[in-house]
Amino acid sequence: MTMNSTVNKLDEAPLLVVGAGVMGVGIAQVAAQAGHAVMLYDAREGAAAEAKTKLAKSLDALVAKGKLTAQGVSQTLSRIEAIASLAAAAPARLVIEAIVEKLDVKRGLFQQLEAIVAADCVLATNTSSISVTAIANGLQHPARLVGMHFFNPVPQMRLVEVVSGLQTDPAVAALIFDLAGVWGKVAVHARSTPGFIVNRIARPFYAETLALLQEQAATPAVLDACLRAVGFRMGPCALMDLIGHDTNFAVTSSVYEANFYDKRFAPSLVQRELVDGGLLGRKSGRGFYDYTAGAVQPGNTDFAPVPLPVAPVAQSLCVQGVGPVAERLVAALAQAGRAFARDESSDWVGLAIVADGAELRLTDGRPASQLGAEVAVFDLPVSSETGIALAWAPSSRASAGWCAAAATWLQALGFSPQRIADVPGLVVARTLAMLINEAADAVLHGVCTPEGADAAMKLGVNYPAGPFEWLAQWETRNVIGCLDALDAHYRGERYRVSPWLRQRAWQEGVQ
Ligand code: NAI
Repeated sequence: MTMNSTVNKLDEAPLLVVGAGVMGVGIAQVAAQAGHAVMLYDAREGAAAEAKTKLAKSLDALVAKGKLTAQGVSQTLSRIEAIASLAAAAPARLVIEAIVEKLDVKRGLFQQLEAIVAADCVLATNTSSISVTAIANGLQHPARLVGMHFFNPVPQMRLVEVVSGLQTDPAVAALIFDLAGVWGKVAVHARSTPGFIVNRIARPFYAETLALLQEQAATPAVLDACLRAVGFRMGPCALMDLIGHDTNFAVTSSVYEANFYDKRFAPSLVQRELVDGGLLGRKSGRGFYDYTAGAVQPGNTDFAPVPLPVAPVAQSLCVQGVGPVAERLVAALAQAGRAFARDESSDWVGLAIVADGAELRLTDGRPASQLGAEVAVFDLPVSSETGIALAWAPSSRASAGWCAAAATWLQALGFSPQRIADVPGLVVARTLAMLINEAADAVLHGVCTPEGADAAMKLGVNYPAGPFEWLAQWETRNVIGCLDALDAHYRGERYRVSPWLRQRAWQEGVQ
């Protein structure tokens, strides 16, 4: 069957939500608030009615806080009917399934539903990891099955990934896309591939931190501080502790397996060790951090501004290169009233302390030790705020004097320097490069558009910017340079550059 223009919009159509768990109830609430008559069904006897009672309590609490009106809540609740048998669902024009995450159970449910609902009833699955194409296999009308992937908590999270399988009718995907908009959500089209958009593109956020921990490059607190400085609400370690290492490890493993064990998605031994040891994060009382009563939580790294180091008489300073980071150094030196030269043709960005023969370089992906002796590299500062945590590393051949001086220079230039091991791409640069790379591959594979990827990451996981927004700021050649340096250092498949990025660089006239 093909859905065609005879299909009306789904606004206010009666709908069935199957599964009265955390997601199903959230979906039922949002649909009812948008005016739909909602039937709620759960295989466990009494579960749908219990869920409605629980929902009533939580909505009443919002009335007490003045966030909803009593009349609105009673209208919403009057539209939700807990049904005891699927046979009662015949009038539904849309079914949204939010049951257990098992392919055979979901398939069985939709096959059963096809015998109950009308031939033009749209079937949607809220699966977060199962192929929509696979769920549709065996249906009489596979074209009407589509993914409608909400995020938890459903009433608050604005993103809906509209996931099309191989046989999904584009008209059905368009109906669900429009409906999500009517419900106040931002819908993004996605092709059914492992992890869809958000769970795929987000992998490096965790993976790079885990790789750095494995190399003992920095502590969880330092890594978290450096990434919070980009504007992420939580650092990866704190976030994995919140999600639960068992859940996070399971998602990573499923994406890895579904990508035929592509090393880019490989799970981490560091995380498996936590899972094996039952250190699951907040829910078990300990993960990377200790959550037991009285434990001290890592807070923000302290930043105390210091004056620029006093220069020897003959010392001269030179700001190297062009771009936002060079401009930032220029502004900091000018504000401090320090004389400096500029070398805009330099092939690196940063500050040369000429008399000392020392270089403070913005990372281009290569470790400091590869660049010279009196060299220190610093991470990509994304936020323009003063005092942000910023990773840096000296060359393994740097003198003790330069190691101390480099930190002081960074502090005087307005950063809170966090010394880590001399790893390629430090913390922020490598993490953003890999997020951008993954997003580029998703676009290359037709999973989503660049705009869709940006919207999905900002609304689905609250990223401070989308990967293509970072790409525009940082420039394609710099992102490729960082990835190539990582690839040269580690070898293997993990840091290979997406062909999409190479094409873009060529389009921009960069080799
Ligand atoms: P849950 O475990 O809270 O609720 C699932 C409900 O489905 C339970 O009440 C269970 O009794 C019922 N159920 C199981 N098999 C059934 C069947 N054959 N027929 C009818 N009801 C059945 O699970 P949750 O977290 O609400 O997840 C549901 C779905 O949503 C899963 O596919 C999950 O992957 C997906 N999802 C979950 C998110 C989350 O953060 N929890 C986020 C996005 C998607």
